[in-house]
This record gives sequence, structure tokens and C-alpha cells, in this order.
Amino acid sequence: MSALQQAGIRGIGVYVPERILTNRDLEKMVDTSDEWIVNRTGIRERRIVSEGMATSDLACLAAERALADAGVGSEELDLIIVATNTPDMLFPATACLVQDRLKARRAGAFDLQAGCTSFLYALTVANNFIATGAYKYVLVIGAECMSRIINWRDRNTCVLFGDGAGAVVVGKVPGGCGILSYLLRSEGSGGPLITMPAGMSRLPASHETVEKGLHYVHMNGREVFKFAVKVLEESCLTVLAEAGLTLNDLDLLIPHQANARIIEAAAKRLNLPPEKVVMNIDRYGNTSAATIPLALFETLAEGKIRDGDNLVMSGFGAGLTWGAVAMRWYDYSQEKGVE
Ligand code: ACO
Repeated sequence: MSALQQAGIRGIGVYVPERILTNRDLEKMVDTSDEWIVNRTGIRERRIVSEGMATSDLACLAAERALADAGVGSEELDLIIVATNTPDMLFPATACLVQDRLKARRAGAFDLQAGCTSFLYALTVANNFIATGAYKYVLVIGAECMSRIINWRDRNTCVLFGDGAGAVVVGKVPGGCGILSYLLRSEGSGGPLITMPAGMSRLPASHETVEKGLHYVHMNGREVFKFAVKVLEESCLTVLAEAGLTLNDLDLLIPHQANARIIEAAAKRLNLPPEKVVMNIDRYGNTSAATIPLALFETLAEGKIRDGDNLVMSGFGAGLTWGAVAMRWYDYSQEKGVE
């Protein structure tokens, strides 16, 4: 068997809906306050998809930008993975809708659902297709319309989530760069902590399931909170160690954006200063599978990631699932115009 290739990100693009829903707007919808939401979650506003748009629309817009950034044509893609918990419909897969719209004629396509950890799971799958040399380019998209599965009368959940999409083109990068290590974990006994109970084989859609609100997200926030802080810390340390690195080598932690207090508590346990921990939850809320590519994109755009920087992306979510990826950033933009 030939030696493994090094896989990494070679292009990134995002799309967020234009419509902004502020905490003040939410005050008019449920019994809550801007103060409570900011203090307990760090969220100030979130984006909400417009009428008539769905997850594949957000995914395509982000994907087109990622392909342009990578300088890769859609016909060069070998595989498209859409990481999502809010597909347009159960089937066909949202990834197939994206494949058609992008005219990615050679690409296989499937959705991957692992709660808010979906993007990291998908990135890891892509990594392995590139590492073995089986594929040249894999498009990974984290895209969500969480607003469509939220009970807008339930203050425990409706203040937390938002809509958005982020896409990356994964391909070969020079040795020493790219994805260095990864961890994917699950604990199914925690499944009931975050669930959308009805609509499939256990509880098919019926008048009763609709009346009981069983097609919405149900969550035990406190338990998820404790679990999240623990696994963010542990997964970060594990992938660093597997990559032969220590916390001192870490330039940036890009955690799943579910609650600013979860991120701050994990950063404290890891003894990381705020400038090494990415946070943009104030403007987008929890966009589930899209939070990590959105946060990565913004940090790059701000010029805060340089060639050779050591990053850890770490997330957790429904399942329960959690995971992390350690990556040495390869600045693919330096290749542009060097043909
Ligand atoms: N406005 C005002 N009060 C509220 C609101 C609100 N929006 N939401 C809850 N409260 C109330 C509760 O009713 C409770 O009142 P009570 O004491 O009278 O019963 C009080 O505030 C405190 O509630 P807690 O649940 O203890 O509040 P907590 O500080 O834990 O914050 C939160 C709740 C924000 C949900 C937090 O637990 C959290 O972020 N948990 C993690 C959630 C998460 O990460 N989910 C994403 C998982 S990923 C996925 O795959 C979908």
C-alpha cells in the first residue's frame, strides 16, 4: 500500500441569511429578556432563513464560494458530504440536491448526521478519502435551518439557535500540514438529552405528534452543558497529544458555538487565554453543523490564522456525539497565481 497523503482544507466559503433576529425581537415572542440571553448564552442575535429557502439553498451558496476560493471546478469533485440535522427532506439527501445544483457530475453525495458534531465527522470522512489517495477533492458542507425545527414558543430552546452554512474543499496539502489527528466519539445513552422525537419510524407523523410538538427540538440544557464542558476539554487534549503537540503549541481553539459559558468554562480548564479561543456566537447563535466552518472562515478573514498555525476544532451535540480535529494550517492562498 502506498504512503498516506496529507489532507487539509484548500478552500472555504460561508453563507448566512440576511434576516437578523435580535434578542429584543425574541422578547416580543416569548417570556425572555436580552439580559438573560446575553448573560446565560452570549448570544445577541441570530440569522433566520427566509420563507421558501431550505438547507440545500444555504449549502449551495456556501459551496460555490468555497469552490471559487479553492480554484476547483465542481466537475473536479469526487464526493460531496452535507453535514446537517435539518435536511430539506429525509430523502433524497440534501447532498444530492447540492450535487445537482453544482453540476458536480463525477461526485458521489450523501448526508451525514451526528448532531452538532456533524461537520467534524464529515471532515474526518473526507480526510480519510484524501489520505488514502482514493479521491482528489471532497466538498464538506455544514448547513442548517435550525429555525425550521425550533418551537418558537419554547424559551428554553428558541433563543439558542440560528441558520447558516459553511463549506470547505478538502484535498491534498504538503507534508506536515493539514489534518494531523482526529477523535470521534459517541454515547448513545445520552440520546434523550437532545432529540426531535417524531416524524420517522418510532413515531410517524400524526395529528397527535404535531399537537404534542414532537417535531421540535427537545433538550435538557443543564445536562448538555455539563457534558459539553467535559468533552471539549478532553477531546482537545487527546487530539493534541495524538498529533505530538501540547497546549503550548496550540495557536487557536475553534470550538462548537453552543453557549459562550460552555466555551469559557472549557477554555478555563485548558488554561487558554481568550485570544486563543474563537467565539462568534454573539452574532449567529448555535447554527449546529455550521458553527465551526463559520467560525473558521471569520477568523481567517480577520487575518488571525497564519501558515503553520496549529488549530484544534472541537464539537459536541445530539447523539450524544463529540469530536475534535487537530490541524496545521496550510495557507493555500500562497499558491494562487503561481501556476
Ligand atoms: N429566558 C428567560 N429565562 C429562561 C430562558 C429564557 N430564554 N430559558 C430558560 N429560562 C429559565 C428556566 O426556565 C429556568 O427557570 P426556573 O429556574 O424557574 O426553572 C432558569 O431560566 C434557569 O434555567 P437553566 O436551564 O438552569 O439555565 P442555564 O443557565 O443552564 O442555561 C441553557 C440554559 C442556555 C439552555 C444552557 O443550559 C445551555 O446552553 N446548555 C447547553 C445547550 C446546548 O449546547 N445545546 C446544543 C446541543 S448541540 C445539538 O446537537 C443541537
